[in-house]
Amino acid sequence: MATSPVVPENRPPEELNRAVIFLGPPGAGKGTQAKQLAAKFMVPHLSTGDMLRENIAQGTPLGARAKPIMDRGELVPDSLVLKMVAGRIERPDCWHGFVFDGFPRTVAQAQYLGELLKQHGFRRPLVIHLMVDTALILRRITGRRVCNVGGEIYNLYDRPPKVAGRCDNDGGELLQRPDDREEIVAPRLHAYEKQTSPLVAYYKRLGLLHDVDASKSVEDVKQQIDKALLVARTRH
Ligand code: AP5
Repeated sequence: MATSPVVPENRPPEELNRAVIFLGPPGAGKGTQAKQLAAKFMVPHLSTGDMLRENIAQGTPLGARAKPIMDRGELVPDSLVLKMVAGRIERPDCWHGFVFDGFPRTVAQAQYLGELLKQHGFRRPLVIHLMVDTALILRRITGRRVCNVGGEIYNLYDRPPKVAGRCDNDGGELLQRPDDREEIVAPRLHAYEKQTSPLVAYYKRLGLLHDVDASKSVEDVKQQIDKALLVARTRH
């Protein structure tokens, strides 16, 4: 007899049932917003950056290949990332949708994802394009600190913890990512411009792109995303 999927009893009344993609430069706020949206719909938050960092922490062969590339602020080859993502969305917790943060990042990744979503019977994704200018990006990246226990994201300038260096939620230590040093920001922005920004035109052509002004407050950006979701439900 086939086993039925494990579906939490307390699912929200409104289901996502699709992939949401957060597209935007480093530090635009993809992780901050993607986590909140995934929690609201009780679906997985799939950050390819976090997955790669987990592989590095666990000392896997994938982590060993990815680490020097990430430390230089370059993109990890498509083949490695695609295998990782394909394996992840196979899992039953993805059956009601999922929120991508930092994926896809090249046109080849987007094309592959399109095929993958079709194969899994999902409708077309909703793409949230977070737009923010470079001056703000630098402040957000260099000020970011991340809890080493629960992953909560802080900012020394805009969202400081109550106690310096400690997470408000669980007291975990707040760390700076190795690639958040100022000298790595320029290569990361260059990689975004060259390899990822063509996705804006790609998804616009497909009619799936929703522009959001990400220079506003976290709450304001969240409201713009909620509106985009409402629009997307009626359109595609
Ligand atoms: P990844 O981890 O994806 O990093 P990224 O894309 O550079 O994005 P960030 O995590 O830096 O920023 P974010 O937009 O999530 O901002 P956040 O919400 O944290 O990738 C790291 C590396 O992994 C890549 O360089 C690459 O090497 C590799 N990689 C990953 N995916 C890959 C792929 N698909 N293909 C190939 N390689 C891949 O916010 C930033 C700060 O701003 C925080 O401090 C936050 O508190 C603050 N903030 C957020 N929103 C606001 C707001 N509205 N107002 C004020 N402050 C805010």
